[in-house]
Amino acid sequence: MRPGTEPLVVVDDVTKTYHRGRPDEVRALRGVSVTVSAGEVLVIEGPSGSGKTSLLTVIGCMSRPTSGQVTIGDRRVSRLTESALTGIRRSTFGFIFQKLHLILDLSVEDNVMLPLVPTGMGAAEMKKRVDEALRAMRIEHRRTAAVGRISGGEQQRTAVARALVNAPTIIIADEPTAHLDGELSAELLAILGQLNDEGTTVVMATHDPRVTAHPAVHRRVVMQDGRIVEGGAG
Ligand SMILES: Nc1ncnc2c1ncn2[C@@H]1O[C@H](COP(=O)(O)OP(=O)(O)OP(=O)(O)O)[C@@H](O)[C@H]1O
Ligand SMILES: [Mg+2]
Repeated sequence: MRPGTEPLVVVDDVTKTYHRGRPDEVRALRGVSVTVSAGEVLVIEGPSGSGKTSLLTVIGCMSRPTSGQVTIGDRRVSRLTESALTGIRRSTFGFIFQKLHLILDLSVEDNVMLPLVPTGMGAAEMKKRVDEALRAMRIEHRRTAAVGRISGGEQQRTAVARALVNAPTIIIADEPTAHLDGELSAELLAILGQLNDEGTTVVMATHDPRVTAHPAVHRRVVMQDGRIVEGGAG
């Protein structure tokens, strides 16, 4: 999809400090401004510890900034209650985490269903969504298998199916190709590109040059020491 100019997420001069005021204080984000536009595939690059995951968690409403503003659509995160924020997280975002966070004892289909459970959706609609996500990720044939007993690539596909089961506006992916070989990485990027063609916005953190160079990527920003040093504020 060609990115539009409508801002979906605006991050304005955001800082994130962990363990504030303690000897082990970490200033993970030190004044970051970036706008995610509807329909774009944005890549966040930078060395380990530069703040990529911290920025993704702020964009995805998984954590609040220490200072600065995050706006999702027309809603300011700082003005939202915890439950409103949780609601936005569940309805707007799909997450592919750095560690996959799958529940190994549960089946593929139960893992994929998990994001829908708290939405109060009816069982029939849930099943339909899960079926679609499993089909999209070509993992239907493994649906009843325990996730601990499928291959790494199948686990990755399960994690992506879980990320798209709620038909998110924005997919947040943290090092999505970190554990994949060349072929599976290419497949994952093709899938994300296809979701983007269908209108989904994608924000990815990576230090994988295969990702950065992929034709589906519209824009990249580079982080260093908690700041955007290249490509910011756009
Ligand atoms: N929950 C946390 N508590 C304390 N410090 C944290 C926490 N999360 C991250 N940090 C620290 O914040 C800094 C930025 O971390 P972050 O995970 O955002 O970097 P990153 O760019 O994603 O790194 P990587 O490429 O290794 O995943 C690091 O110094 C990290 O140790
Ligand atoms: Mg990280």
